[in-house]
Amino acid sequence: MYNKTMLIKEKELNRSGFPSVVSVLEAARILNVSPDTIRRWDKKGLIKSERSNNNHRLFRLAELKRAYSKYSGNTDGARYKVLKSRRTTHDVIELFSGCGGMALGFENAGLRTKLLVEVDDRCVDTLRMNRPKWNIVHDDIKDVDFSIYRGTIDIVAGGFPCQAFSYAGNGKGFEDTRGTLFFEFARAVKEVNPKIAVAENVRGLLRHDGRKTITTMLNVLDELGYNVDFHLLRSQFLDVAQKRERVIILGTRKDLSMDFIYPKEKDYTVSLREALRNCVDSAGASYPPKKKEIMELVPAGGYWRDLPTEMQIEYMKASFHMGGGKTGMARRLSWDEPSLTLTCNPAQKHTERCHPEETRPLTIREYARIQSFPDPWQFAGSLASQYRQIGNAVPVNMAYHVGRCLIAMLEGKFDDKAMVTRKPRERYFQQTLPLVASVIP
Ligand SMILES: C[S@@+](CC[C@H](N)C(=O)[O-])C[C@H]1O[C@@H](n2cnc3c(N)ncnc32)[C@H](O)[C@@H]1O
Repeated sequence: MYNKTMLIKEKELNRSGFPSVVSVLEAARILNVSPDTIRRWDKKGLIKSERSNNNHRLFRLAELKRAYSKYSGNTDGARYKVLKSRRTTHDVIELFSGCGGMALGFENAGLRTKLLVEVDDRCVDTLRMNRPKWNIVHDDIKDVDFSIYRGTIDIVAGGFPCQAFSYAGNGKGFEDTRGTLFFEFARAVKEVNPKIAVAENVRGLLRHDGRKTITTMLNVLDELGYNVDFHLLRSQFLDVAQKRERVIILGTRKDLSMDFIYPKEKDYTVSLREALRNCVDSAGASYPPKKKEIMELVPAGGYWRDLPTEMQIEYMKASFHMGGGKTGMARRLSWDEPSLTLTCNPAQKHTERCHPEETRPLTIREYARIQSFPDPWQFAGSLASQYRQIGNAVPVNMAYHVGRCLIAMLEGKFDDKAMVTRKPRERYFQQTLPLVASVIP
């Protein structure tokens, strides 16, 4: 579908007269495709957009040039690779380590793993199996004392689980969050007093409870002596063959006056085809015969609407009449795009991720490749546990890029080709949170 002949020549994109940021309609005119095609590319994460203050999609001219070049047949040679840089002497503690997506990405970026905390038995087995020398505390974080690390650690990071937060905001700041796992993250930051605190979470955090939740979190870090900022990362533009979004909250110690640095999105995506090239065989879930029969009829990139009407009604049941796209149902992935977000189960009815060619869910090693875990990284436990561990992880290459930025912040070495920077602001958050276009694409 992307081999469509573009009628306009590259040089036309270079001529003056176009503003540097354009709307969907202007982008469609420039690329000589329909506005729906532009919207579809945007929705599929194939072209980067930003949002205006009134929530309209905007496209940069440089991004349109990239799309023109890519979809008119000039492949940029983007290939699947687990990224790695040389080691540094900067130390990190990671809480809620899971099966090690963030920890491995940070290690690959060059950070030294000083301590990991994880309560789940199988996750700990995975970490120990792959990195016998890592210092892993297998315990509930509530029972871990971090004060022995005070003043010796550069970074405390943690993707605290996204349980339902309810932060009443009783005016007690830090104490208001007691009983939540964010409180434990903040307590670790308080006890260790690192140069940088990094919290990671799902996009939903940004709007949770009318934005009170994230506002409370930012205020707590502020209260602990940190300048705060946050940014939404999109993994498909960070060397990951998957559309997965994660919010990164950064806190930098106020006495250090550091600028915030985030990964700059790449001008390419990695397709599923590239990520799964020569993927080794491994265990995987399978469909029951009836479901297999149904999924056989869905083409690569298709979903329930590609089924005969009677089968749609039978498969979708009540959902059939409920409206909405439900594009995750009976979904078969496409070879030519990054995968949709992986979940903790590869065959859930509302978030189906069928292999593009074979009629089966993705295997464990395919899951791992899509999350950019290297092939030698093994996962412990039952099949269900392995899927859950991988589905919960931060993509390794995304964490790598974050890790590179943390090192740049610590060393004061900003790389404008790979990073973007923001200055700390005066007292950023009070009661309401300005969700500006620069923060949420
Ligand atoms: C979203 S996963 C983290 C994924 C990890 N950052 C990665 O990249 O692979 C959250 C982890 O927090 C762990 N966890 C939940 N409650 C915990 C607690 N009270 N103490 C320690 N770990 C906990 C869970 O077992 C789970 O593995």
